[in-house]
Amino acid sequence: MTRRRTQVAIIGGGPAGLLLGQLLHRAGIDALLLERRSAEYVLGRIRAGVLEQGTVDVLERAGVAARLREEGLVHDGVEIGFQGRRHRIALKSLVGKSVTVYGQTDMTRDLMEARAASGADSLYEAEDVQLHDIGGTQPRVSFRHRGASHEIDCDFIAGCDGFHGVCRPSIPANQLSVFERVYPFGWLGLLADVPPPWSELVYANSERGFALASMRSPTRVRCYVQCGLDERVEDWSDVRFWDEFRRRIGEEIADQVTLAPSIEKSIAPLRSFVVEPLRFGRLFLAGDAAHIVPPTGAKGLNLAVSDVCYLHEALRDYYRERSERPLDEYSARCLRRVWKAERFSWWMTRQLHLFPGDAFDRRMQQTELEYLFESKAAQASMAENYVGLPLEAR
Ligand code: FAD
Ligand code: DHB
Repeated sequence: MTRRRTQVAIIGGGPAGLLLGQLLHRAGIDALLLERRSAEYVLGRIRAGVLEQGTVDVLERAGVAARLREEGLVHDGVEIGFQGRRHRIALKSLVGKSVTVYGQTDMTRDLMEARAASGADSLYEAEDVQLHDIGGTQPRVSFRHRGASHEIDCDFIAGCDGFHGVCRPSIPANQLSVFERVYPFGWLGLLADVPPPWSELVYANSERGFALASMRSPTRVRCYVQCGLDERVEDWSDVRFWDEFRRRIGEEIADQVTLAPSIEKSIAPLRSFVVEPLRFGRLFLAGDAAHIVPPTGAKGLNLAVSDVCYLHEALRDYYRERSERPLDEYSARCLRRVWKAERFSWWMTRQLHLFPGDAFDRRMQQTELEYLFESKAAQASMAENYVGLPLEAR
């Protein structure tokens, strides 16, 4: 068995783990990153596409925004489709901010390249990661890599290993409160190389269920349709997907859609989930390891970024000033922002999907959307949340 030491052991090489590694590196803090999968596998996962302005600012400060600045698509508005019409929420003119369309895959690649260039250590395909003594002051992480056993001594462990990771379950269950809502449907997503015939994202509520028209670049579309939890990707041919998408997205776009072959198709279930607190002893949870939002508000990746931004500040202050206070405040500081994003994602999910509810629920949904389309105040509220609530200054 080999044994080594680092200041912070980062578990998980998704956006949260990679960005934390980059921010710590710039603060002169040593971190070793362990990822269960290969780098190619991580890059092949197609997920988020919308960055808040605050996220772009953090990526700028981390020195990883060169390509994002070149290739990111700034969107000043977003549209809601309902009953055959599209209603624009004018983000920029309502609240003075925009969002940037830039794939999570691209952001991950930028972070991986920056990490490789900095010489910081990452171990991919790390198996059987286990945390030890997280309640004490000298935690350890054990794992296997290429057939050999390893152990790391560290000051802190950052649990950035997503919803299905090992960190959250390492905390004694009686130390965590869990808040959860599982929705009775999922999203089926399709990626295709074809120019989008829409200029801004369209979130559509239709009688057949929700659909979303998004994009990754001027030549690549990303589209979603609400589907049943028991559905399988294999049962959705490209023809079936496009047919369903066109029936839901509204006539104008339906007429312009090219039935391009998919380069990726996948189904994601929808869930709201939060654990409190985000800390046990020397283990700190960040990103999807601590909370999940349904994708409707485009908040998951952005929350991972704000958690990690707060965590790096707390660790930086600890090493600079030996001050524990920012570490003690980490969980509450994150949760204030997390719950507001949970509320917004839950609200958008409720307004836009087809639920098994009764006629009263359906009328409430209709009324909520009509109010949104008529009221500048309601639009400003939606815009303020969609572009992202501000990160707390320290
Ligand atoms: P992950 O990206 O899940 O990374 C965790 C990493 O830890 C993974 O690489 C995993 O392999 C690794 N890991 C797990 N277990 C272990 C272990 N035992 N040991 C070592 N490593 C481990 N968010 C938005 O903000 N905007 C959007 O538009 C948006 N759209 C989405 C659309 C879809 C279809 C989906 C599924 C999600 C979407 N999200 C969106 C959410 C966003 O993708 C996630 O919130 C984001 O990936 C969270 O990053 P993370 O680093 O916390 O977790
Ligand atoms: C995308 C995903 C989302 O969840 C969302 O709200 C908007 C866009 C996307 O993958 O492009």
